[in-house]
Amino acid sequence: MENNRFVSTSKTLTDVEIESSLRPTKMTEYVGQEKIKNNLEVYIKAAKKRGDALDHILLYGPPGLGKTTLSHIIANELGSQIKITSGPVIEHAADLAAILTNLNKNDVLFIDEIHRLNKSVEEILYPAMEDFALDFVVGKGPSAKSMRLKIQPFTLIGATTRAGLLTGPLRDRFGVLARLEMYNEFELREIITRSAKILGIAIDDDASLEIAKRSRGTPRIANRILKRVRDFSEVYGKKSIDIEITNKALDALDIDKSGLDNTDRKLLETIIRKFEGGPVGLDTLSAICGEDATTVEDVCEPYLLQKGFIARTNRGRIALKEAYEHLGIPLSQTKENELKVYENDEY
Ligand SMILES: Nc1ncnc2c1ncn2[C@@H]1O[C@H](COP(=O)(O)OP(=O)(O)OP(=O)(O)O)[C@@H](O)[C@H]1O
Ligand SMILES: [Mg+2]
Repeated sequence: MENNRFVSTSKTLTDVEIESSLRPTKMTEYVGQEKIKNNLEVYIKAAKKRGDALDHILLYGPPGLGKTTLSHIIANELGSQIKITSGPVIEHAADLAAILTNLNKNDVLFIDEIHRLNKSVEEILYPAMEDFALDFVVGKGPSAKSMRLKIQPFTLIGATTRAGLLTGPLRDRFGVLARLEMYNEFELREIITRSAKILGIAIDDDASLEIAKRSRGTPRIANRILKRVRDFSEVYGKKSIDIEITNKALDALDIDKSGLDNTDRKLLETIIRKFEGGPVGLDTLSAICGEDATTVEDVCEPYLLQKGFIARTNRGRIALKEAYEHLGIPLSQTKENELKVYENDEY
């Protein structure tokens, strides 16, 4: 699906170009996600020591948080080869069987968008993940025999933005489930500073922090904004990117102080003005905003939830106090009291 929003977290062609130069290749260069990193380092060391394949890993979380990057790093640290494919690309069971039989000992197989594997393909994966074997049937009718073919031990790394869409049997076969979290502004600033250095851009500290604050907790967006701000800075003849030009560029891009763009603001405004603050169902909401439900769920919501602008209830989405304040819409005392229950995470 095409998405023209500047803050869209999904990958564009320009990103492919930028990302190849900015993508960290070692664990030490990978900023943030400390817990996942620390655990992985232990598992990797242990697997190497034993000479075994590393456990299968499922990486999940919103787009642009570094799933693909981390998978490459894991293979790198293992000293293994990585084979890359994706759920929708593998059409037939035989395609996956061919990939699996061609793996070398302890290789990494990376399957992006793993929630989009079709059923017959997925079934090949079960014995492959569990026993490093392929099961197939030879012959037809009463004389048909089931055969088992051993394959080399390997590590499957699955990536998905939607862990909830994975089938139970597939999810259960991963030894490590790692949910990538959004990055805080200091981590993002570190990423921006690193990127600026690689791209040969001079940037002031307060400017990189400002970009960080407006990057929706997402490294892909931080890098994208950095590139645009550089354009502004060059056109205005600045030697170094300063806070003034950064604010100018971000305003021109319609990204506000909290990193929201027009679509986000429209979404919040719709919940508040058209639905008296909610709850409103995802489908209704996306139809009114003119976005498809997947975009709302994968791109808008994770950040709005994280910022505490909205909450998800079993009857739909509701706008929280912060959303009213951010948009400058008055909130009645009754409504405010009503919302109190949602302000901690315990509902
Ligand atoms: N932890 C990190 N440290 C530094 N840079 C990062 C980090 N995570 C991501 N990046 C940068 O953000 C870019 C996007 O990350 P990546 O492509 O790995 O995201 P993804 O989670 O695979 O996204 P998608 O779900 O769209 O496939 C990378 O090319 C890299 O430049
Ligand atoms: Mg990816």
